[in-house]
Amino acid sequence: MQFFLDTANLDAINKYHSWGVVNGVTTNPSLIAKEGASLEKRIKEIAKIIKGPISVEVISTDLQGMLNEARTYTTWGSNIVIKLPTSENGLKACYDLSDEGINVNMTLVFSTAQALLAAKAGAKLISPFIGRLDDIGEDGMALIAELMEIYEHYDLKAKIVVASIRHPRHVVEAAMLGAHIATIPPEVLEKMIKHPMTDIGIESFLRDWEKARGN
Ligand code: E4P
Repeated sequence: MQFFLDTANLDAINKYHSWGVVNGVTTNPSLIAKEGASLEKRIKEIAKIIKGPISVEVISTDLQGMLNEARTYTTWGSNIVIKLPTSENGLKACYDLSDEGINVNMTLVFSTAQALLAAKAGAKLISPFIGRLDDIGEDGMALIAELMEIYEHYDLKAKIVVASIRHPRHVVEAAMLGAHIATIPPEVLEKMIKHPMTDIGIESFLRDWEKARGN
């Protein structure tokens, strides 16, 4: 399973990149806005650190606007992936851009049917938002389970990026289902390394070591 970092924060990207666990980065307009940085400047800064795919989302909702934005963003780095909302225009833009050889990540996917359409339209990445489904009382992970079952029957090229992850169990369960990628917020990645028994173990080993040296 690949891990993407779901952030536009440079300190977080540098930190978790140094752990050797980051295969790519996903951004969205909210994450960029939170940073207060210019989109172009920030994406180029991220591209200096991350060699894997960096998803940049369009703001436009009309087809031509989406195509224009996408063609501009792809000039910012060879690893830029264009994130498009899974709307009717997003699907058309996915088809056109994929035909031009531009890599597309279809985002805001909330149903298996939407994911199937995105795969057929040529998306390289498909991002089902599991946390936001959980938020409205649905079962986000059930969507991933359905998708991974479909992958057992068909040789679909698009990779599933489990998105809107809220806690480490989301990552573990997605991995158990065979999802290709998880895009993980820094706070969740931080929790993944922590276990109180590890801290207690380190402390007791050190205590025993110091005691033996004192004797
Ligand atoms: C995915 O690419 C999105 O940026 C992200 O996972 C959205 O998650 P949220 O529901 O926490 O905003």
